[in-house]
Amino acid sequence: MTDRYCVFGNPIAHSKSPAIHAQFAASTQQDMQYEKLLAPLDGFTASVQAFIAAGGRGANVTVPFKEEAFRLCTRLTQRAERAGAVNTLVFDGNDIFGDNTDGAGLVRDITHNLGFELSGKRILLLGAGGAARGTLEPLLAAKPASLFIANRSADKAEALAALFGQIITVNGGNFAKIAGNSFDLIINATSASLAGETLPLPPGIFATGSLAYDMMYGKGDTPFMQQARTQGAERCADGLGMLVEQAAEAFTLWRKVRPETAGVLADLRTQIQA
Ligand code: ATR
Repeated sequence: MTDRYCVFGNPIAHSKSPAIHAQFAASTQQDMQYEKLLAPLDGFTASVQAFIAAGGRGANVTVPFKEEAFRLCTRLTQRAERAGAVNTLVFDGNDIFGDNTDGAGLVRDITHNLGFELSGKRILLLGAGGAARGTLEPLLAAKPASLFIANRSADKAEALAALFGQIITVNGGNFAKIAGNSFDLIINATSASLAGETLPLPPGIFATGSLAYDMMYGKGDTPFMQQARTQGAERCADGLGMLVEQAAEAFTLWRKVRPETAGVLADLRTQIQA
C-alpha cells in the first residue's frame, strides 16, 4: 500500500511541499503520496489524529501549528526540543515522534548550496520569534565565532540568547545595539517584510565578503536582500534553498534515503521567476 504523508497548515493552498516531495519520491523510487491538508485553527490535533487513523505515516507542519505540534509529540529530537517547535512528524503506533528540520535546512543551504563556511564566522540573526529560534541549535553546532540576536523587542532577543548562550558567545539586543560591529553572515528571520517594512539596520554591519540570507523568498530579490546589497553585503540569498533542504531532511527521516535537491531547487526557482 502507498505510504501517506501530508503537510498541515492554515493557510496551506500555496504550499510547495507536495511538489517538492513528489519530485523527491520519483527520484528515489519511493512508493508514497504527499498531500496538503488545511487544519482548522482550533482543530490541529484532531486533524493529525484523523490522518493517523487513516494510515498516515508522517507529516510536515507549517504556520501556525509548529508549537502545537511540539506539544503533541511523545518523543522529540534534541534540536526540536531546543527549537520549541516541530515541523516534521513521524507516526508509529501510538508514538508521535517530532523533529525540527528548519535549522538543518538553513545550514545545509548556506554551507552546501551556497558554499559558505560557518565555522569561525560572526553571525547576526535578525528576529527572535519562532523562525529565529528554530535555527539556533544547528547554527551554533556549526561552530561560528559568535552569534548576535537582534530584535525589535530587545527583551525577546536577550531571553533567546540566554537560552542558547551556553555553547558559543550568544548576545542579544535591539537593532541599535549592533551599531559599530560587523558580521560575516546576517540572517533575516523577521516577518517585517510581510508588513511591508524594512529593518532599521545601522550602517557598516556587513563585513567584507559577507552573506545576507533572507529566510523569506519571492520573485526576484526580497526587500531585505535589496537593503543588504545597498548597505554593502557582498552576496545575497533568499530562503528557497532552505525550503527545499528542510524538506529533504524530513524526507530522509521518513524514507531513510537522501534525495538530490539541486534539480528540485532549480525547477522551483524557474517557477517562481515566471
Ligand atoms: P515567526 O514564527 O515567523 O518567527 P513570530 O514568532 O511572530 O513569527 O516572530 C516574528 C519576528 O519578526 C519577531 O522577531 C518580530 O519582532 P518582535 O519580537 O519585536 O515582535 C519580527 N518583526 C515582525 N514585524 C517586524 C517589523 N515590522 N520590524 C522589525 N521586526 C519585526
